[in-house]
Amino acid sequence: MATPLGPLLLQLFLLILLLISIHQSHSATASTIHLPFSIYPYSLSVTDFGATGDGLHYDTAAIQSAIKACPTSHHTQCHVTFPPGTYLTRTLFLKSGVVLDIKENATLLGGTKMEDYPKELREWYVVVAENASDVGITGGGVVDGHGLGFVKRFNERKNVMVSWNTTGACLGDECRPRLVGFIDCKNVRVWNITLTEPAYWCLHIVRCENTSIHDVSIYGNFNTPNNDGIDIEDSNNTVITRCHIDTGDDAICPKTYTGPLYNLTVTNCWIRTKSSAIKLGSASSFNFKGLIFDNITIVQSHRGLGLQIRDGGNTHIAFLVLLIEFFLND
Ligand SMILES: *[C@@H]1O[C@H](CO)[C@@H](O)[C@H](O)[C@H]1NC(C)=O
Ligand SMILES: *[C@@H]1O[C@H](CO)[C@@H](O)[C@H](O)[C@H]1NC(C)=O
Ligand SMILES: *[C@@H]1O[C@H](CO)[C@@H](O)[C@H](O)[C@H]1NC(C)=O
Ligand SMILES: *[C@@H]1O[C@H](CO)[C@@H](O)[C@H](O)[C@H]1NC(C)=O
Ligand SMILES: *[C@@H]1O[C@H](CO)[C@@H](O)[C@H](O)[C@H]1NC(C)=O
Ligand SMILES: *[C@@H]1O[C@H](CO)[C@@H](O)[C@H](O)[C@H]1NC(C)=O
Ligand SMILES: *[C@@H]1O[C@H](CO)[C@@H](O)[C@H](O)[C@H]1NC(C)=O
Ligand SMILES: *[C@@H]1O[C@H](CO)[C@@H](O)[C@H](O)[C@H]1NC(C)=O
Repeated sequence: MATPLGPLLLQLFLLILLLISIHQSHSATASTIHLPFSIYPYSLSVTDFGATGDGLHYDTAAIQSAIKACPTSHHTQCHVTFPPGTYLTRTLFLKSGVVLDIKENATLLGGTKMEDYPKELREWYVVVAENASDVGITGGGVVDGHGLGFVKRFNERKNVMVSWNTTGACLGDECRPRLVGFIDCKNVRVWNITLTEPAYWCLHIVRCENTSIHDVSIYGNFNTPNNDGIDIEDSNNTVITRCHIDTGDDAICPKTYTGPLYNLTVTNCWIRTKSSAIKLGSASSFNFKGLIFDNITIVQSHRGLGLQIRDGGNTHIAFLVLLIEFFLND
């Protein structure tokens, strides 16, 4: 049912009410995803597995042991809790049924050395879940990518970053770890958490089914390149609501590389970015269908919407209300 629109084959249900105003409000209806998360989670503290939380010693082994100790029964949700402290870590691998519960005043801090990350480039994250179900992150604390530790030279136009492109597996200045990734996962939930200072992209959802992201704050660095907020690729049934994103690159970026992206609802979000607040593409080889953006407040950003649909995918999107504030003289 594609209706070609110009050379881009862009099928766009564009119901934009661009309210260039600060005082408008309206009511939004968002679809919700009900995830089968148990009300009475099983819980293990990383300190019981030897984590120091001193910010100096790597706590990777202790945290990974706690994750391993979580029961794997499909009907149990296991929270791995982090009491107040700073937990320095190499890449952590989540498994099915595990939720990282990073409490208030607790910070999970990513390492800045290349050997802190796996050999496989696709696993370069501070926290990654692959092929897992019922996984998530919560707790009111912080996941910190230590992004400023990757800056080689500060610059108000664009910081010059460390690049681990020694193997040629990635090119130029884009070889740095992302912060949090869910790859080929089902029933993902990220809520009540602050994600800060990613070295590269922040929250990456790849080929997932049923993802709920709510009450999440993302703080990148305004001058750091590739500091995307949330990248959603080839994934179905994703709901993002009540998010606060303040970052240097695109804030919410649906992309299609290997398959279509169906049913993405984004509501009640606040965004400030040096690039696009909502950016479709540029990877766009498959269709985008059933995307809804409602009550998105965009402030002090270089671009509100970026639609780079150039690889052949069609789009079916509703932009309900975008509140764009301009501060021309600020
Ligand atoms: C996704 O959520 C829907 C609605 O809650 C549910 O019917 C479906 O089974 C879920 N999919 C998976 C793969 O768990
Ligand atoms: C977190 O830190 C703040 C400031 O130091 C303190 O007031 C608060 O009680 C702490 N909360 C917890 C749960 O430790
Ligand atoms: C993904 O998980 C399923 C179920 O646990 C398993 O059967 C499958 O082999 C896994 N696939 C990969 C690529 O790990
Ligand atoms: C978020 O985390 C804080 C700190 O741990 C907690 O007090 C609060 O109840 C949590 N809120 C929700 C909605 O889970
Ligand atoms: C690594 O990145 C630097 C800086 O962008 C570039 O000059 C060099 O060609 C890159 N090397 C490879 C193998 O990509
Ligand atoms: C999303 O749904 C489409 C259409 O049913 C399907 O082709 C695709 O495999 C689904 N993707 C995932 C990650 O489940
Ligand atoms: C998208 O949402 C619609 C309406 O809720 C549902 O019927 C459809 O199955 C969903 N598509 C995918 C690929 O899950
Ligand atoms: C719109 O989103 C903002 C957060 O950005 C929220 O404070 C406000 O209540 C939302 N408005 C409605 C009508 O839901």
